[in-house]
Amino acid sequence: MNIFTKISELKEHLSKIKENGSTIGFVPTMGALHAGHLSLLRQAKQENDTSICSIFVNPLQFNNSEDFRKYPKPIENDIDILSSVNCDILFNPSEKEIYPEPYNTIFNFNDLDKYMEGAFRPGHFNGVAVVVKRLFDIIEPDNAYFGEKDFQQLTIIKYLVKTHTIPVNIVACPIVRETDGLAMSSRNTRLTSEERKVAPLIYQILSEVKRIYKSKTIEEIKRFVEDNLHKFQPMKLEYFEIVNIETLEPVSVVDDSSSCIACIAVYVGNIRLIDNIKF
Ligand code: PAJ
Repeated sequence: MNIFTKISELKEHLSKIKENGSTIGFVPTMGALHAGHLSLLRQAKQENDTSICSIFVNPLQFNNSEDFRKYPKPIENDIDILSSVNCDILFNPSEKEIYPEPYNTIFNFNDLDKYMEGAFRPGHFNGVAVVVKRLFDIIEPDNAYFGEKDFQQLTIIKYLVKTHTIPVNIVACPIVRETDGLAMSSRNTRLTSEERKVAPLIYQILSEVKRIYKSKTIEEIKRFVEDNLHKFQPMKLEYFEIVNIETLEPVSVVDDSSSCIACIAVYVGNIRLIDNIKF
């Protein structure tokens, strides 16, 4: 695996690869890699001649400085993992390399950021869009892979690419879960053993919502989620929304005529976890 920290060196390497007509599949990450990230990489490897993963913990997208400080950064372990799955290139730039000067672009996401993560994490998606656009400008990949675990992020990236006519194909990849249903996340390693035991309840509740939604009103479903989640002490619901899968607007009735997705954010102790389920 070739590892680059400098943009100029990465670009030189990529231009040689592209001269031969090779396609580039890109997986942007913040590291602390797990099987969810690796599923994106596997697909990138299958569908492209060259695979590239970036690891950059982007300060701009953290609205909570403690969350940024405590975000796991096991870079040596990540390098071993990427080498073992034959990733071709790792781009692991410093903050100065990505942001040589203050970045203050403000994006408009046409209200895709109005609810859920956008509402509870002000500035988060702007920070995501700044770094993803910067990485796309540097790498110019043919395909870029994003997980449905961060469904609102995926929708916003698709919108960003469309409105800025960025020539990259965005590929959506399904959520990878632990055997007990908990969606894999770099933040799971920060759960205590007690918290880890109750965390699968998030997906159990989402699965139950999917089973019952046709016979209940939105208010009844929301009450069901709140009541069941709060039975367990370390769990605190931040939001639960059922939204239109394209506009991400909350729906007032769930019927078969519109495709919906239920999205949830929960604090398990101090750790904030998100998950979703499509209807
Ligand atoms: P990060 O949280 O490291 O996630 C990198 C990619 O892995 C994202 O596309 C995310 O949706 C995907 N992913 C994470 N957990 C997953 C799971 N359990 N199943 C499937 N895919 C999963 O998302 C980010 O980083 C950042 O916001 C980034 C896009 C890199 C910009 O900084």
